[in-house]
Amino acid sequence: MNVTLIMVSSVNGKITNGEDPDVTHWTSREDAELFSELKQKQNLIVMGSSTYEAGKNRLQLSNNTLRVVITRSPDKYQADIVPGQLEFTDESPPELIKRLSAKGYTEMLLTGGATINSLFFKYNLINTIRLTIEPKLFPIGKNIIIQDQPQVNLRLVKMQKLNTRGALHLTYKVIS
Ligand SMILES: NC(=O)c1ccc[n+]([C@@H]2O[C@H](COP(=O)([O-])OP(=O)(O)OC[C@H]3O[C@@H](n4cnc5c(N)ncnc54)[C@H](OP(=O)(O)O)[C@@H]3O)[C@@H](O)[C@H]2O)c1
Repeated sequence: MNVTLIMVSSVNGKITNGEDPDVTHWTSREDAELFSELKQKQNLIVMGSSTYEAGKNRLQLSNNTLRVVITRSPDKYQADIVPGQLEFTDESPPELIKRLSAKGYTEMLLTGGATINSLFFKYNLINTIRLTIEPKLFPIGKNIIIQDQPQVNLRLVKMQKLNTRGALHLTYKVIS
């Protein structure tokens, strides 16, 4: 399974502006368009339960895309399940990838947040990172990864300027 992590951050690497869970309050229209286009091309999107909670009011389900939410309490989300479109699991990332690979999925878009990103990094399962850097500094906020995360080495393979204010979209390969 090829796993691509997609995130948007401030220049100082914050993925939230303080405690505000709604990233649409500070991300650019151009980044939103890029993210939306990319999601439409995916048939598998995976996220943590806090990211699901933060964005569920804007979630647009589709027949062609399976969204999987990682939670330690899948039973809590029974009422939200839409078979084939929105599922909840307490599988570990390797277990999830094994099961979904057996079903024929080959590409996964991982959409955060920090906790689930680190869980995937722990098992060395992320191949590519697509990161938009918005030209902002936030004094407080969540980071792309959590604190007990080991170092990850990256190689930049593509750089796009998204708008005149200088939002940058960077594509990195994870290297060992
Ligand atoms: N800027 C961006 O690109 C971007 C992208 C994504 C998210 N975000 C923001 O980031 C925030 C969410 O990040 P987050 O790090 O708090 O949450 P997260 O990674 O989205 O989800 C964390 C949750 O996953 C569940 N979980 C499942 N397995 C786990 C395990 N083995 N260990 C620990 N937790 C496990 C836990 O909730 P349960 O109680 O359900 O088990 C945990 O609270 C939101 O505010 C969101 O808006 C920003």
